[in-house]
Amino acid sequence: MSAGKATAVAPANIAFVKYWGTRDEERTLPYNPSISMTLARCVSRCTVELRPEGSDLELLFGEGSAGLAPPSPEFARGVERHLGRLAEWAGYRGGFRVAARNEFPTGAGLASSASGFTALALAAAAALGREPGPEELSALARRSGSGSAARSAWGGYVEWPAAGGDGEGAAQLAAAAHWDLRDLVAVVDASPKGVSSRAGHRLAPTSPYFERRLALLAARLERVRGAIAARSLAELGPVVEEEAIDLHLIAMSSRPPVYYWRPGTLAVLAEARRLRDAEGVAVWATIDAGPNVHLICEPAAEAAVAARMTALPEVVAVLRDGVGGGPRVLRGAEDHLI
Ligand code: DP6
Repeated sequence: MSAGKATAVAPANIAFVKYWGTRDEERTLPYNPSISMTLARCVSRCTVELRPEGSDLELLFGEGSAGLAPPSPEFARGVERHLGRLAEWAGYRGGFRVAARNEFPTGAGLASSASGFTALALAAAAALGREPGPEELSALARRSGSGSAARSAWGGYVEWPAAGGDGEGAAQLAAAAHWDLRDLVAVVDASPKGVSSRAGHRLAPTSPYFERRLALLAARLERVRGAIAARSLAELGPVVEEEAIDLHLIAMSSRPPVYYWRPGTLAVLAEARRLRDAEGVAVWATIDAGPNVHLICEPAAEAAVAARMTALPEVVAVLRDGVGGGPRVLRGAEDHLI
């Protein structure tokens, strides 16, 4: 790889303690710390080529196995803003040619801006001759406006603190090798979500339960940190599921309310509980700002969880993922998208 053109791959992540509510939208600063697990298979790839003579942006985007094509104007504006900040950081004044692809298993219904913006930040930095470490990459990725991107800069188990300012990003709690956890996504609706996370963050403080959750969080964060350190799913599972329900309680009681769930969401939650209570399978659910359910378990339970969820009529696909190692720059000519 020579500076001037670079490709990076970055993963999505699933939050155990959610980022919900933005206290400073301009700088993407959250009300509360969040903790997540970085995924292995749900990744975005991005190639950035510098155009020092130009000043414009040429952008192509693709999903799954579909070809690359110009994206929506809204998507392009987000990329342009993010690249503008990265160019300023590196003191670069020229144009860019960019191609990005979400290499998620198709039909996952999991559009991730965390993986996309982290891949873009890393590819742009590498093209500009910089190779930020995860700490710096995290702060750069966060400035995209996708707060959860701060956590995708690291592999394994990651915490993004709420205090601090502009330069701050997330930190790693434990590497992927520390604990082999799996995330099976029971997809009940693969269509794009109706209400963006950004809109949800804005509405969150209007819920009468917003402050209550913040008051509960210090203890909850401590339990999650302890469970990860001890590799204890029996300790982690209940708190992760409780936290996911609280996010949706806040969304559903915001003014106006936001309903991310579909009937299939409840069917999956009920099946996870049945598996646990009646059959002793250790599996716990969490749900981001959408209807699909992430089922967290250890490798020994994966086959049983996948089979039972696949058999539910409400589930259109089960995507198997697990903890992964974080973003990387790819150096082969064949790795570039353009
Ligand atoms: C519910 O503002 O980071 O996933 O940029 O749309 O991916 P996107 O979302 P972002 O908010 C994430 C909200 C969440 C919880 C979490 O990941 O912490």
